[in-house]
Amino acid sequence: MSTPTVIIGKEVFELLRDDLAAIEREFGRDTVSNVAAITEIGEYLRGGGGKRIRPAVLLLSSKLFNYEGRGAVRLGAVMEIIHTATLVHDDIIDEAQTRRGRPAANTQWGNSKCVLAGDWLYMQSFRIALQERNLRILDALIELTQQMVEGELLQMEKLGKCISQEEHFDLIYRKTACLFSVCMRMGAILGNASPQDEEKVAQYGRDLGMAFQIVDDVLDLTASESVLGKPVASDLREGKATMAVIHALERCSPEEHARIESVLRNRAFNGVTHEQILEILNKYGSIDTAHSRAAEYAESARKAICTFPDSEIKRALLWAPDFVVSREK
Ligand code: IPE
Ligand code: IPE
Ligand code: MG
Ligand code: MG
Repeated sequence: MSTPTVIIGKEVFELLRDDLAAIEREFGRDTVSNVAAITEIGEYLRGGGGKRIRPAVLLLSSKLFNYEGRGAVRLGAVMEIIHTATLVHDDIIDEAQTRRGRPAANTQWGNSKCVLAGDWLYMQSFRIALQERNLRILDALIELTQQMVEGELLQMEKLGKCISQEEHFDLIYRKTACLFSVCMRMGAILGNASPQDEEKVAQYGRDLGMAFQIVDDVLDLTASESVLGKPVASDLREGKATMAVIHALERCSPEEHARIESVLRNRAFNGVTHEQILEILNKYGSIDTAHSRAAEYAESARKAICTFPDSEIKRALLWAPDFVVSREK
C-alpha cells in the first residue's frame, strides 16, 4: 500500500501533541511573577485556551528542517505569549467585553493593569527568546512587534473610514500575517535552513496569515457569537472596513454606500441592521469574493513549500491552509 498523500487534522494534532503540551507547561512557567496581578492575569489568559495555531505552525516548520532541540518548544511559547500580549492590548483598544467565550481580561482587571501585564508579557517573551543566544531571532521578534504595533496604530487612524483594498491588505499583513511568517521563520532559523528555504517558509507563513485574517473578518460578519466566542459584527461596530465590506463599498449604490458608511462612522447599527448589511454584501458577492481571496492565499501558501520533499510534516503544512480557510471559529 502506498503512503496516504493527505493528512487530516486529528493526525496533525497527534503529531504535535507532546510538543504542544510542553509549550503549555513552558507558557505556564514563563508567566509567573513576584507581583501577583501579573501571574493572575497570565494564568487567566493562558487558561482561556485559544487554538494555539501559531506555535503549531512553528513546530511544523522546525520539524520540516529536522530540528530536535528544546528551542522549538521555548520559541513556540514565546510566539504564543506575544500573541497573547497583542490580544490583551487589542481588547483594551477595541473596548472588547468578550474573548474566547469569556470576559476579556480588561473587564476583570481594568485597562491600566492589563496594559502593564501586556508590556510585561512582551518583555518576558523576549527574555525567553534570548535563551537561544541568537541575534537573528531577536531581530525578527523586534521587527515583528513593531510591525504589529504599527498595524494597530494605522488601523486606529483609519477607523470609520472607507479604506482601499491595498491599505487593508497592508494592515492585515502587519497585524496578523507577519506573526505567522515569523513563526515559520523561527523554525527555519532553529533548523539552520538555507536562506532560500527560510524565505519559502516565511512566504508560506505570510500567505497562511493573510488567509487566516480574511477568514476571521468574514466570520465576524457571518458567524454566530456562540460559535465564535466573541461578539459578531464587531468590526463594523468598531468602525473597521474589512475585505468583504470594502468590496461592496466599491460596487454598491450611493444609498447602500451611505448605509454601510453610517455604521462605520457611528460605530453602531442605527436604523440599519446587521442582516441588511449582510444582504448588501451578498448582493455584490462580497462574502464569496473574500472567501475566494482567502482560498487564493491558501493555495499560494501551499505553492511556497512545493519544492520540499514529501514527508508527514510537509503534508501537515499542506493541510493547514485548508483548515484555516474552512474553520468556523
Ligand atoms: C485572534 O487570533 C486574533 C486575530 C489575528 C484575528 P486567533 O483566532 O488565533 O485567537 P485564539 O488564540 O485562537 O483565541
Ligand atoms: C486582533 O485584531 C489583534 C491583532 C491581530 C493584533 P482584531 O481586533 O481585528 O481581532 P479580534 O476580533 O479582536 O480578535
Ligand atoms: Mg479586537
Ligand atoms: Mg483590533
